[in-house]
Amino acid sequence: MAILVTGGAGYIGSVTTELLRARGEQVVVLDNLSRGHRGAVAEGVPFYEGNIGDRELVTRICREHDLDACVHFAAFAYVGESVAQPALYYENNVEQGVRLLGALLSCGVRRLVFSSTCATYGEPQRIPIDEAHPQRPTNPYGWSKLFMERIMTDYDHAYDLKFVALRYFNASGALPERGEHHEPETHLIPLVLKAALGGIEHVSVFGGDYDTRDGTCVRDYIHVEDLAEAHALALDYLRGGGPSTAVNLGNGQGYSVLEVVEAARRVTGREIKVEVQARRPGDPSHLVADAARARGLLGWQPRRPDLEAIIGSAWEWHTARPRGYSAD
Ligand SMILES: NC(=O)c1ccc[n+]([C@@H]2O[C@H](COP(=O)([O-])OP(=O)(O)OC[C@H]3O[C@@H](n4cnc5c(N)ncnc54)[C@H](O)[C@@H]3O)[C@@H](O)[C@H]2O)c1
Repeated sequence: MAILVTGGAGYIGSVTTELLRARGEQVVVLDNLSRGHRGAVAEGVPFYEGNIGDRELVTRICREHDLDACVHFAAFAYVGESVAQPALYYENNVEQGVRLLGALLSCGVRRLVFSSTCATYGEPQRIPIDEAHPQRPTNPYGWSKLFMERIMTDYDHAYDLKFVALRYFNASGALPERGEHHEPETHLIPLVLKAALGGIEHVSVFGGDYDTRDGTCVRDYIHVEDLAEAHALALDYLRGGGPSTAVNLGNGQGYSVLEVVEAARRVTGREIKVEVQARRPGDPSHLVADAARARGLLGWQPRRPDLEAIIGSAWEWHTARPRGYSAD
């Protein structure tokens, strides 16, 4: 039986596709390439270029492959863009997401692993954040993910859809052949490495006056391969008859922006200039996961938690492919 990976031409989806295949799974990718790269999908993986909201296409994929589950990554994921253009986010992430669920259910596919986010929690009331923490997003992106969690919960009750919502903290790092290439790039580690490579003048640091060790925001960075592994374990959990649930994915260790820059200076041996600017609205000071549930429920064990190792893996990919997938 095959697994449908939506958004498999994107960063986390392409790494997860590779890992699932290494585990002997049949994988089919659906991606409209709006934000992804054809070159990120390995040769030999059946690839469908189209929208997740295209019911006819999803039904055809179900017919052509014996689907047993879906890992649903496809979404837009820029916080700032979601504030400026909420319609884009609700149409793409929610409206199209609902159509995907409908098409899957009509084909009898009832297992789904969903890419959710720590952005569904909003401003933290306590650190580390566990799954019981109130979910009050501070932007439309976070709301679009929380709406999907809500909708899937209702679909479970009514239509027996079983899902695991994986609430990622900051995905980072790379495999030798698969790395992070967003346009525009807004994630800290690729930006820091771009500065190390001379592609940008300096790294903009938003806010130097937070109530943190050095005044800059603290985040929980998790290696993309560890994230991918959790998707495989979530599929095992659903295939084993596990009920629908939500699980945080992070290392439980927070690093400030300046600590990441310092670690990147050590890894690359390069100068990396920073420019501290005003705070961005809606950026919480700390976002650190309590991921005990992922360990207990899924048996997940992050194997690459070390920040320098995470940055080192990304550095290898960025130095080998300074233009990312554009060279393909
Ligand atoms: N990168 C992170 O740190 C992070 C953190 C939390 C959650 N997430 C979530 O994880 C998922 C993957 O993130 P990523 O960083 O790999 O993003 P990405 O942009 O690299 O990948 C998303 C992929 O989905 C595709 N896509 C988007 N809308 C589509 C549609 N309507 N139909 C078909 N394909 C569509 C894009 O072309 C792209 O290839 C997203 O859902 C994101 O919200 C990411």
